[in-house]
Amino acid sequence: MKLLVTGGAGFIGSNFIKYILNKYPDYSVVNLDILTYAGNLENLKEAKNNPGYKFVKGDICDRELADSLVKDIDAIVHFAAESHVDRSILDASPFIKTNVLGTQVLLEAARAKDVRFHHVSTDEVFGSLGPDDEPFNENTPYGPRSPYSASKAASDHLVRAYFHTHNLPITISNCTNNYGPYQFPEKFIPLFVTNLLEGKKVPLYGDGLNVRDWLYTEDHCRAIDAVLHRGKIGETYCVGGNCEKTNIEIAKTILKLLDKDESSIEPVKDRLGHDRRYAMSIKKISEELGWQPEVNFEEGLQKTIEWYKNNENWWQKIKSGEYLDYYKVQYCERNAHARYA
Ligand SMILES: NC(=O)c1ccc[n+]([C@@H]2O[C@H](COP(=O)([O-])OP(=O)(O)OC[C@H]3O[C@@H](n4cnc5c(N)ncnc54)[C@H](O)[C@@H]3O)[C@@H](O)[C@H]2O)c1
Repeated sequence: MKLLVTGGAGFIGSNFIKYILNKYPDYSVVNLDILTYAGNLENLKEAKNNPGYKFVKGDICDRELADSLVKDIDAIVHFAAESHVDRSILDASPFIKTNVLGTQVLLEAARAKDVRFHHVSTDEVFGSLGPDDEPFNENTPYGPRSPYSASKAASDHLVRAYFHTHNLPITISNCTNNYGPYQFPEKFIPLFVTNLLEGKKVPLYGDGLNVRDWLYTEDHCRAIDAVLHRGKIGETYCVGGNCEKTNIEIAKTILKLLDKDESSIEPVKDRLGHDRRYAMSIKKISEELGWQPEVNFEEGLQKTIEWYKNNENWWQKIKSGEYLDYYKVQYCERNAHARYA
């Protein structure tokens, strides 16, 4: 099978490409990625010399490029996105361009060749749950509340519209929060781990009681694999870790695993519009496709922390600005935001 993977130099996409090349040695993968601050070819050093792997630097919004790449492809697995909620609060424009327009360009290119399209999306499209609400499922009405989740919701609707209107063979997976190796250190778990490894404090939003459902990224890759190969065309599959945790619980676990105490926590003013709770029912994907998370949170977190300990060079380059001074900009903006929020 020949796959076009978009956003394959990012966190989940790079894990997915290595997973696929390893599991299916006869597959080939073209990775289309524009290399924003979040894209990093070092994530793919193991794949670099694989004859089945090819990297193309480019924008998913470029229709001509998309048409040329789709020519010899059996399926598109679409990860490329602006993915950080905080950044979408500061400036939603790149989110609309890449997540909405970029998805539409890829859908048009796929439609021209009737190419199978798998769209990687998020639980955040469903909005926020109260403490006693049932977890989200495939029938939960959409209720996105951040510019990021609104842009992903728009892209989900477009993907479904291309199925209903044009009969394009699509599937969608909506997944909960991922963690694991190669996650950009602006996101909660790698930010906390790397700050603590550097002897710095960790910024905890609000009362720390926001709940997320956590999934190890390799489990997410297995879920996408299952949906891509065995999912029913036109269907959506919810993916989650059966692992609801408050942010403060996670912070305390990381502190403990790194031999730090709670004086390292620096409470910061809450994120604007901060969703309170996400949780996902995985009944459909487990019953129909036999998928279950395999890595429990304690094991996954331990593995993740070990990875950041052993790959200091990877994240130090990002934090010191060798790739881009993004981290510092983001950190200042976060504080500025905290002042006016
Ligand atoms: N991280 C999570 O917890 C999570 C959970 C559920 C769903 N998702 C979804 O999974 C996908 C991947 O998330 P991630 O955390 O790996 O993101 P990421 O930010 O780490 O990576 C995104 C990648 O997309 C690339 N990209 C951005 N704009 C592009 C463009 N215009 N053209 C080509 N490439 C472009 C970037 O260079 C980067 O390599 C996203 O669609 C996200 O919405 C993420």
